Amino acid sequence: MSNHSSWSSKIGFVLAAAGSAIGLGAIWKFPYTAGTNGGAVFFLLFLIFTILVALPVQLAEFYIGRTGGKNAIDSFKVLRPGSQWPWVGRMGVAACFILLSFYSVVGGWVLNYVVHSFTGEIHAGADFEALFGKTISSPFGSLFYQGLFMLITIWVVKGGVSDGIEKANRVLMPGLFILFIALAIRSLTLPGAMDGVAFLLKPDWSYLKPGTMLTALGQAFFALSIGVSAMITYASYLGKDQDMFRSGHMIMWMNLFVSLLAGLVIFPAVFAFGFEPGQGPGLIFVVLPAVFMKMPMGTYLFAVFMLLVVFATLTSAFSMLETVIAATIRQDEKKRSSHAWTIGIAIFVVGIPSALSFGVWSDFKIFGKTIFDLWDFIISAVIMPIGALSVAVFTAWIQDKQSVLRDAGMGSTIPRQLLCLWLGVLRYLAPIAIIVVFINSLGLI
Ligand code: PFF
Repeated sequence: MSNHSSWSSKIGFVLAAAGSAIGLGAIWKFPYTAGTNGGAVFFLLFLIFTILVALPVQLAEFYIGRTGGKNAIDSFKVLRPGSQWPWVGRMGVAACFILLSFYSVVGGWVLNYVVHSFTGEIHAGADFEALFGKTISSPFGSLFYQGLFMLITIWVVKGGVSDGIEKANRVLMPGLFILFIALAIRSLTLPGAMDGVAFLLKPDWSYLKPGTMLTALGQAFFALSIGVSAMITYASYLGKDQDMFRSGHMIMWMNLFVSLLAGLVIFPAVFAFGFEPGQGPGLIFVVLPAVFMKMPMGTYLFAVFMLLVVFATLTSAFSMLETVIAATIRQDEKKRSSHAWTIGIAIFVVGIPSALSFGVWSDFKIFGKTIFDLWDFIISAVIMPIGALSVAVFTAWIQDKQSVLRDAGMGSTIPRQLLCLWLGVLRYLAPIAIIVVFINSLGLI
């Protein structure tokens, strides 16, 4: 335990956990899944699931990590010695490994777009759909940038939580907020922008289907980084004097705000320029450059923006790699560096088929899905709900109520009634919602 590091300042944990939460989920995945699932209905479901299910589960992960004080697997061992619960941690660690293997593919695309903006590919009048197709289908290009993305991730995580992760987060998150707001203003003032606002905010109830509900639930978990033990791991570095309820709320609102901003940047522009909202993973890569080209110094601003997206993506990737490494080094910090390299490289290798599934292996499908889509489905729509359900049940049914209230409430001024409300939601509402959505969608997939 003596070697177990901790965040060096109060804001460190909030920034790191917010950095884990805010990433491709809000910026890339939210707009395109909202685009393919009818816009406003999806947004509404995502909002409800985030507040009522994902936030309480996130807080439960904080409780487990902070009270257990160790990596995701050992924290369960501390809280429930001799039980099978550490399997929840093991599942989370495996899921983070797989998650990073395909997350790094998209991270690589973003890196490639930074380079594109310096090599003259981003200019007014360019065919951004063709550029996206070229970017993701080139086997060499996608593997090269995915590898580069992994190298940066390994390099930072190798430095340990407070040195690497925390310092990077401090500078980058505020920058992202500022540019995003400027971009939303530009997008909202394009002619025809209001159709996009209506798409995002005015529900068409015919989209209210079980499949949409599961996707929205998965998105809420994905966006808050829960169900795969990453928040358990980060919270293990969190002091008992800190208010985890405040941190959880701040992270959730920041994340919802960025998702909303992403929607308010993308959809007005989609409608103003006549793009297709349901075009899938390419959405931001096609629409964003088009918006930037309508701004003075658009190419430069696009480069800066993409750089900030790279950082947001990296800070999420750090938490995935950290979850795996923390579990294998088991508090022995001397092993960190060598494990970071071995595990990081293994993740890259496992991710190769995902990278190729947008090009040479795009016809190779299992259950009608490419390898990339299949991994994404398994993690976001299966493992995350199961992980979140397990965390809720563990905290609210297995652990003793008084000790949870005491341990979770440490460092917080939150009134006891609210603490009890949180546990009540975890005990009944969250598990029921997850089970109902899950079972409903299974029958209709
Ligand atoms: N929350 C991250 C995003 O929205 O991009 C993704 C993520 C990070 C999921 C870490 C899970 C995780 F453990």
